[in-house]
Amino acid sequence: AAPDLEALKKEAALRAVALVRSGMRVGLGTGSTAKYAIEAIGERLASGDLQGVVGVATSDASEALARQVGIPVQPLDPRPLDLAIDGADEIGPQLDLIKGLGGALLREKLTEVQARQLVIIADHTKLVTRLGEKAPLPVEIARFGFLSTIERLRALGLGGRLRQPGAQPYVTDNGNYIFDAQLPASFDAAPLERQIKGTLGVVETGFFLGMADLAFVAAPEGVRELGR
Ligand code: A5P
Repeated sequence: AAPDLEALKKEAALRAVALVRSGMRVGLGTGSTAKYAIEAIGERLASGDLQGVVGVATSDASEALARQVGIPVQPLDPRPLDLAIDGADEIGPQLDLIKGLGGALLREKLTEVQARQLVIIADHTKLVTRLGEKAPLPVEIARFGFLSTIERLRALGLGGRLRQPGAQPYVTDNGNYIFDAQLPASFDAAPLERQIKGTLGVVETGFFLGMADLAFVAAPEGVRELGR
């Protein structure tokens, strides 16, 4: 990404991290924007500005980074989280999201559904008027029988392909594969999500519908605060 986009991502991240209070249990997102938030929480802990913050990480990578910057990390348990901060691949109307281009969608959804407040941080290139405009919809699928699962997804009218950056398919932290689905030109997200989730072999989809409460979206002219 261009260096100016990196500055914007960091700006958005800092706005979200300003919402963290001492003693909070915070869901730590995954990706290049969430990374800035994790680093900033670590800095606030190191300076003594924050105390007693505990993180719940949405990926092995974010857990490693959190520990490196001094945030104690706990596994997810059934208690609510005070706050979760994460990036997104697309932010649509009503703050419906596509997530999972970084591969962490399952742990992100498991964690963020328990957050009292889910705050999304992004640069302005993530804003869309229709989900699927720019990004594919990541669908996490079991490795066993994955070709059959992909056939079933195609039968729903989804294009797309198995995520395979090199010689081997991409494997998630949970040991699954990802099918990057090309969404049709027109669709209703909620019923489509139910259809995909109801497909044998599908573990989770990258639709995050009705989950985000707030988004900080950074553009060259400033940071926009979007509510649902
Ligand atoms: C990780 O699986 C995703 O859901 C990320 O939240 C998403 O890919 C955003 O990442 P960037 O901040 O790097 O764009």
